[in-house]
Amino acid sequence: MNLRVKPLDAILATAEKKALHRSLGAFQLTMLGIGAIIGTGIFVLTAEAAQKAGPGMILSFVIAGFVCAVAALCYSELSSMVPVSGSAYTYTYAVMGELLAWMVGWALVLEYAVAASAVSVGWSGYFVGQIRGWFGIELPLTLIAGPYAGGVINLPALIIALLVTWLLMIGTTESARVNAVLVCIKVAALTAFVVLAIPVMNMDNFHPFTPLGQTGVYGAAASIFFAYVGFDAVSTAAEETKNPQRNVPIGLIGSLAICTVFYMLVAAGVIGSPLGAQPVMGAAGEILSPGSVELAARCTVVAASMAEPVACSKEALAHVMRSMGHPNLGNLIGLAAFLALPSVILMMLFGQTRIFFVMARDGLLPEKLASIHPRWKTPHIVTAITGVAVALFAAFLPVGKLADISNSGTLFAFFMVAIAVMILRRTDPARRRPFRTPVVWLVGPLAMVGCIGLYISLPRDAMLVLPLWGGVGLLFYFLYGYRKSHVGRGHVEVHEEDVDAPPQPVPPVPEL
Ligand code: ALA
Repeated sequence: MNLRVKPLDAILATAEKKALHRSLGAFQLTMLGIGAIIGTGIFVLTAEAAQKAGPGMILSFVIAGFVCAVAALCYSELSSMVPVSGSAYTYTYAVMGELLAWMVGWALVLEYAVAASAVSVGWSGYFVGQIRGWFGIELPLTLIAGPYAGGVINLPALIIALLVTWLLMIGTTESARVNAVLVCIKVAALTAFVVLAIPVMNMDNFHPFTPLGQTGVYGAAASIFFAYVGFDAVSTAAEETKNPQRNVPIGLIGSLAICTVFYMLVAAGVIGSPLGAQPVMGAAGEILSPGSVELAARCTVVAASMAEPVACSKEALAHVMRSMGHPNLGNLIGLAAFLALPSVILMMLFGQTRIFFVMARDGLLPEKLASIHPRWKTPHIVTAITGVAVALFAAFLPVGKLADISNSGTLFAFFMVAIAVMILRRTDPARRRPFRTPVVWLVGPLAMVGCIGLYISLPRDAMLVLPLWGGVGLLFYFLYGYRKSHVGRGHVEVHEEDVDAPPQPVPPVPEL
């Protein structure tokens, strides 16, 4: 069978011909990673984790962090060998061929675009909290939540997604300096939280530790996995990195390690706070799922008689800080999230357009999609289409559902990267590997099992989205990409920036 593998040497030649300025070092890459990682996951979804697992959510953070760590070790080997854009999509193209690469690229749409929607909804919660906290104004529910929570449309989420799309269209890519400032703001906010919350932890709050059992802990791990997503963005910057062989693995693993430590401490601080982290149960003691109409209704009842539980809050960390008697600091933590989350949306949307761009360059998507605006010099069409879809999802769906759907796509991509790294060890053992995944025959399978474990712990509807989306993707591939593929027609592009350049012939693709 002809797998239509894109030869690694051709991919590397493409990268070499590109003249992107290599300016990023290990430190900047780590900052870039932290910039993409810390966002709605820790600032908002901590509430959902509490609802699913109670105090056991701290274990959920460990499990999700572990799966990301082993996946990051696999990413590091591939990104140091193949330091080009396109991340998991490109690696899969080189190792397992076009069809699977297409599926990975298609799944990355879920990862990046749906994550952008989730972060927009997360931002909306903090925006509403800011208006309430600083100005005492209560915005009408109809305009700040979708039907899942008794509202009509989440207007702030819709607007921020469109605003970021517009910024991307006119050519705003976040500068390293702005990113560094925002990372400092986020890290300062989390540090302040940890410093104030950890010393006054009430250890009694850790009991009962897993009120909803192991299933709850795994379910929360599958959702909170979202908090770690983004470290792979580091690998997409490989082409702009000095000495990528050394610096990309440092950036990937370094940013992940720093965030994991923060997350553990923040989770402990939330659990030990006066609010605790016990889930909100229904009037008859039934389990209520996050993002459901039932939970929203129950939260209204409960919050009328006592402090709003963490699981009900849309701005969890700010809310916990206020409950500890620091209202202004709570508002400041909210302000930090308000300022910094849009940059995560920007990165996710940028990553998405970049993946589409590379796929269109390979002929798998219509090249018109990747056409560059003459003045703005950006792929404005694909950015606009993606941005409008992202905004619509953000307007009508709850943050947790969006995060879960995004996770299903990400887990698939991570799973394929773990397979790719092992296959390549067998099929191309002599190739230089500046970073070698340690004990790859243990780490690779662990990453695969971890991804499957988290995937099957997702809520059923989020789990179903992946095969359904995959089905649509397959249809599209066989109707369009299969015929138009440049590799299929015996060509690969040479210049990433120069999409209109005529394709160059490559040696015949090996029949496997
Ligand atoms: N990890 C990123 C966040 O939590 C996507 O917002």
